[in-house]
Amino acid sequence: MKPIQVGLLGIGTVGSGVFNVLQRNQDEISRRAGRGIQITMVADLDVARAKAVVGDGVQVVNDARAIIANPDIDIVIELIGGYGIARALVLEAIAAGKHVVTANKALLAVHGTEIFAAASAKGVMVAFEAAVAGGIPIIKALREGLTANRIQWIAGIINGTTNFILSEMRSKGLDFDVVLKEAQRLGYAEADPTFDIEGVDAAHKVTLMSAIAFGIPVQFDKAYVEGITKLGAADIKYAEQLGYRIKLLGITKRAEKGVELRVHPSLVPSKRLIANVEGAMNAVVVQGDAVGTTLYYGKGAGSEPTASAVIADLVDIARLHTADPEHRVPHLAFQANTLADAMG
Ligand code: HSE
Repeated sequence: MKPIQVGLLGIGTVGSGVFNVLQRNQDEISRRAGRGIQITMVADLDVARAKAVVGDGVQVVNDARAIIANPDIDIVIELIGGYGIARALVLEAIAAGKHVVTANKALLAVHGTEIFAAASAKGVMVAFEAAVAGGIPIIKALREGLTANRIQWIAGIINGTTNFILSEMRSKGLDFDVVLKEAQRLGYAEADPTFDIEGVDAAHKVTLMSAIAFGIPVQFDKAYVEGITKLGAADIKYAEQLGYRIKLLGITKRAEKGVELRVHPSLVPSKRLIANVEGAMNAVVVQGDAVGTTLYYGKGAGSEPTASAVIADLVDIARLHTADPEHRVPHLAFQANTLADAMG
């Protein structure tokens, strides 16, 4: 069967990761997908940078609409970010009958209702595993692994930048401003860290998890959002003396009426696993009525962790759109007859 053809909008850190992981693991990925997955076009304003990543075999353009207009492209990966041009391009790609894979939590948290409605009307998928907690497959866990459950609540450390800052403040006894500057110098925080430190990025992510877990529309505007900018070294020290760590948690839970949606610094008992998630790592705890408490931990950002999630979505779409029924559901994809064969 002909490989599924993918157009990539934006080839920065994550886009490069997607290209490289697809190249490196192409045999395994194709076997699991039931067909090849090929990036055949890339759009980036910096054409030279894009060409340096993808080499000669891939067409590089500086106009994203050239990808959307190409009838051979089956899936568009949107890695531009933000709400502006990304929203227009995602809607145009859907209108052109393309499936969309995106890591853009801001776009989906704010315009998700419009985008998902457009995709549903057109019969295409909008997949966004990479938008929440990077490499942790939390969207799949909520949608698939926990699908039998009535979810009661979700609480997560879903912003690596702020978790890094809080960890440094605690371990070094430093104040927020000092650590933020250090985090920016080390590349853990962006030059404009507003969305991270004010809790907005975490609120985007918890909004998406809430929509999946509780079957409600994405409603970022209903979230209570408070970041970590008002915390000082003393707050963290006193919390520790009382047996707590301060974590920026994204929380969503069933309430008496409706669903709570909030992000704020929280006191977490130091003995809890999630209290010990340090540095730029992410962790999400989900409570379901059948399964009980489950915990997911891993890298919430970075080139290849995020690429891992983007490619998982590509494989899902490829599986659903392959003629071979054996591949329409995830399967074991045996590559050797015996364990001894596999071990080589
Ligand atoms: N700025 C985000 C974070 C990146 O710090 O977690 C991944 O969404």
